[in-house]
Amino acid sequence: MTNIYLFFGPPGSGKGTLTTLCIQEFNWYQLSTGNLCREHIQRGSQIGKKIESLIKQGELVPDEIIADMVKQTLLSMKEMPKNIIFDGYPRTAKQAELLYALLQESLKEFNLSLIKLNIDQELLLERILTRVFCSNKACQRVYSLMAGSAMHPKKDMICDDCNSPLKKRSDDTPETLNHRLDAYYKHEQEIVDFYIDKGVDIGMLNGAQTVQGLFEEFKNLTQQKAYVC
Ligand code: AP5
Ligand code: MG
Repeated sequence: MTNIYLFFGPPGSGKGTLTTLCIQEFNWYQLSTGNLCREHIQRGSQIGKKIESLIKQGELVPDEIIADMVKQTLLSMKEMPKNIIFDGYPRTAKQAELLYALLQESLKEFNLSLIKLNIDQELLLERILTRVFCSNKACQRVYSLMAGSAMHPKKDMICDDCNSPLKKRSDDTPETLNHRLDAYYKHEQEIVDFYIDKGVDIGMLNGAQTVQGLFEEFKNLTQQKAYVC
């Protein structure tokens, strides 16, 4: 049985941060479509060239391109991990349909949960504008420069783990954030409705609390049999 967790929430709600904690504590596998897109852009692939300006503007990448990246990633695995987090996928009803079909086709048995991070929009701008990440492709650790944050780097703009310089994401600007938020809210309800129709467990988390609080809430939730919808 493969456990599939779909981390869903607006930009800056903490999907990547929660995923990192699940990797550190449980060794779960992360499939982040945002990371896959950035990898294509970094290595200058054909796909990377096609999607670079969309991402800079905060627009969604076409469903077929994203679904194909996800399919290739899953099919390239020698062994299917027991627990997979889809971080930021699906984002449209079409993507949800394509993913459901792919899971049915490629896994014998799977247990699917939608984990929705709820947070007021007002908190997101500061998080996005203070986010930096490690420029070393093999590391990519995410930090926050927010005053008093536990995720502050120890040295100014240097990664604690590998000493590489930290940088900002090209889409972390106020203008682009507005487009990313529009894209999220436009499709939020259709995603929830898709999984309600499928009878999938939907867990709601409070994304406005501390990172440790969020992780504790997630762990409690996954221990329950039926999530609160
Ligand atoms: P993606 O990279 O997925 O970006 P996103 O969805 O906009 O989400 P973020 O990564 O910005 O936020 P997050 O929730 O992971 O927050 P994080 O934990 O880092 O996608 C980028 C782009 O790629 C999209 O806009 C689109 O163009 C394209 N794309 C990707 N997937 C696609 C798809 N499926 N379909 C179509 N297009 C797609 O936290 C943010 C900051 O806040 C960090 O600094 C962190 O340290 C801090 N922080 C986190 N939690 C807390 C907390 N509880 N308290 C205080 N600070 C916190
Ligand atoms: Mg992220």
